[in-house]
Amino acid sequence: MILKEIQGVFHKELDLIYGKEETDSFFFLLIEAYYGLTRMQLALQPGYKAGKTDTILEALELLKEEQPIQYILGSTDFYGLSFKVNNHVLIPRPETEELVDWIVSRQKKEKQQQLNILDIGTGSGCIAISLAKSLPNAKVYALDVSKEALKVAKTNAELNDVEVAFVESDILDKELVDAGFKNLKFDVIVSNPPYIREREKKMMRPNVVNNEPHLALFVKDENPLKFYEAITYFALDNLKENGLLFFEINEYLGRNMIRLLKDNGFNNIQLKQDIFKKDRMIKAFV
Ligand SMILES: C[S@@+](CC[C@H](N)C(=O)[O-])C[C@H]1O[C@@H](n2cnc3c(N)ncnc32)[C@H](O)[C@@H]1O
Repeated sequence: MILKEIQGVFHKELDLIYGKEETDSFFFLLIEAYYGLTRMQLALQPGYKAGKTDTILEALELLKEEQPIQYILGSTDFYGLSFKVNNHVLIPRPETEELVDWIVSRQKKEKQQQLNILDIGTGSGCIAISLAKSLPNAKVYALDVSKEALKVAKTNAELNDVEVAFVESDILDKELVDAGFKNLKFDVIVSNPPYIREREKKMMRPNVVNNEPHLALFVKDENPLKFYEAITYFALDNLKENGLLFFEINEYLGRNMIRLLKDNGFNNIQLKQDIFKKDRMIKAFV
C-alpha cells in the first residue's frame, strides 16, 4: 500500500477527533518510527510503498480509541533525551522540562563539587535522569510508590547511561520513607507529585483521564496539597542547610503553596510561571 494512501485513511478516520494538523503530526511520528522516513523524505517520494502495514494500521485503531501517541510508540522525548513510557507512568510534560531547566540553570551557577538530589514521585524517571545527565557532579536518588513505574524508570536510566539510585517507598508513610533515607541529606529535593483535584477531571482531555495512571494524577478535592505537605515535612528534616525544594504545582494553587512553605519556615520562596503564563513551579530555601 502506498503511504500517502494510508495518510488519507488517517485523515478520514481521525480528523474529526483530533483535527487535521494533529492527525498529520501522529502520522509523521509513526512513519518515522516504523519506516524510518521523515516528513520531508515522504514529500520527495510521494509514491513510497509500505511493505508491512499491520503495525501502522494497529496504531490507527489505537488512536481511534484515543490512546496517547506516546504509549503507542512506547517512547517520548524529554529535555533532549529519549524515555520509554507505558501506561504505568505519566507521559512527561513540557512544563516539567521547564522545572528541570530551572534546577539545572541554578545548580550550574552554584558550581558545587558534589551534591545530592532526590526526586519524589519519579514515574518514568524523567526529572531524575535529566538532572543526572545535565549535572554529572550530582548523586541522584529517585523514589516512587509504584513498582511498575520504577521498572520503567530503571530502564530509562540504563538507556540514557546515567546512574540513579531508585527507591520503592511511600512518601505518605513517614516511618517507611524516613527509614529509607536515614543519615542522608540532600542539597535539592524536587517533586512533581499528583496534584489534579477530582473536580478538575471534567476539564481534562479523555485521552489523559482514560489512559494515564490515576495514581500519578489525582488527589481528593478536600486535601489537594496532601503530597506537598508530606514532602515539605520530609524536606525540613532531610535538606541540608540552605538546601532547596522545587515543586511542580497545580496552576490554581500557587497562593496555597506559598502559604504552606511560609508556614513551615521556608524562605526566598519564588513562584514561577510556565510558557503559558500559568503558575506552574515553586522554589524555596529551607
Ligand atoms: C505526576 S506523576 C510525576 C511523574 C514524573 N516525575 C514526571 O514529572 O513526569 C506523580 C508520581 O508520583 C507517584 N506517587 C503517587 N503516590 C505516591 C506516594 N504515596 N509515594 C511516592 N510516590 C507516589 C506516582 O506513581 C507518579 O509516578
